[in-house]
Amino acid sequence: MAQPALPVHGPHGRGRHRVVTEILKADPQTIAQAASLIREGGLVAFGTETVYGLGALATSDAAVARIFAAKQRPRFNPLISHFASAEAAFAHVETTPLAQRLADAFWPGPLTMILPRNAHSDICDLATAGLPTIALRVPRGKTALALLREVGQPVAAPSANPSGRVSPSDAFHVLRNMHGHIDAILDSGPCSVGLESTVIDLSREVPFLLRPGGVTLEQLEAVCGTIRNPDDYATKLPASPGMLASHYAPALPVRLNAETAAPDEALLAFGPAPAGAGLVYNLSENADLEEAAARLFAGLRFLDSEGHRRGLRAIAVMAVPRHGLGLAIRDRLRRAASPRPMSGGDGDDEVESMIG
Ligand code: TXA
Ligand code: MG
Repeated sequence: MAQPALPVHGPHGRGRHRVVTEILKADPQTIAQAASLIREGGLVAFGTETVYGLGALATSDAAVARIFAAKQRPRFNPLISHFASAEAAFAHVETTPLAQRLADAFWPGPLTMILPRNAHSDICDLATAGLPTIALRVPRGKTALALLREVGQPVAAPSANPSGRVSPSDAFHVLRNMHGHIDAILDSGPCSVGLESTVIDLSREVPFLLRPGGVTLEQLEAVCGTIRNPDDYATKLPASPGMLASHYAPALPVRLNAETAAPDEALLAFGPAPAGAGLVYNLSENADLEEAAARLFAGLRFLDSEGHRRGLRAIAVMAVPRHGLGLAIRDRLRRAASPRPMSGGDGDDEVESMIG
């Protein structure tokens, strides 16, 4: 299939045509290949237990700049640095006893900790958006861990979606949105958790939950005691530079807390679904939050593209409870429903090419 020529960001064709994105089925050999691409300054999407990340060498301004370009991400929004072990991660920050306890409890796993950077860290300023803190994560996905071990250096990796759009929970989602803009996709199958990591800021006096995610607030509280959570600051405090109100935005408008759905609406259901919708995707018929989390982004993408194709006018979403993974699901749905700024040509309004 002929591809339109776009400005490239890749090492294999800078300034000429699109990058040819290689799809690598994860095995020891392709993991080694992906690791060398990253070490050479390339951009590789890879599966983690949460979502697919778009990885580049966190110590290289040039490599990290390619992430921002491929995602059309504003440069004030810092990236998470990924490591194969807590020891490797903590070498970059002023660590604390609480951070150690959290690492013991949840790493490798879906938790990101924000800590003050130390004088030795060589993570580049672009990755941290010039902040005095660094976001650290040790993922538990086997492929991700093997890749990080093989790279042997910190890997900056935001979710592998165009900025503001739905995150990818399998390699196909990445392919749809990023093909031609990145060097390779390391395919390790669908993500088991399906929602991004929980982000906790440990650089303030009290631990602060910046983003609910794969580790629940209840699990964190069992280790941290007091923790400020999103309900405390939802309307007042700036949390994380990346916590923009509108995010995860499908092309169709999203209506929350639906109890019924009309024939011209698509329904994202949770538990027993009311009849009447034009199209239904059930996150979990048994109202199981883990199942719902794992299916959330795929469901949003499906209803968006298929609803759009059928001329439906909106996605109606049933309520999800506020506990456990429900907090993170509600957070993503609230952002998906937020009014979107109609931007002037930053790429986010190219809706047709973004929906999955
Ligand atoms: O599950 C995940 O965390 C995935 C996988 C690939 O690891 N990554 C991910 O990255 O979700 P991203 O860039 O989509 O989200 C990172 C969030 C953003 O909201 C960003 O603003 C915040 O973390 N963040 C990063 N560094 C920060 C810092 N130093 N201070 C405060 N927030 C920070
Ligand atoms: Mg993201």
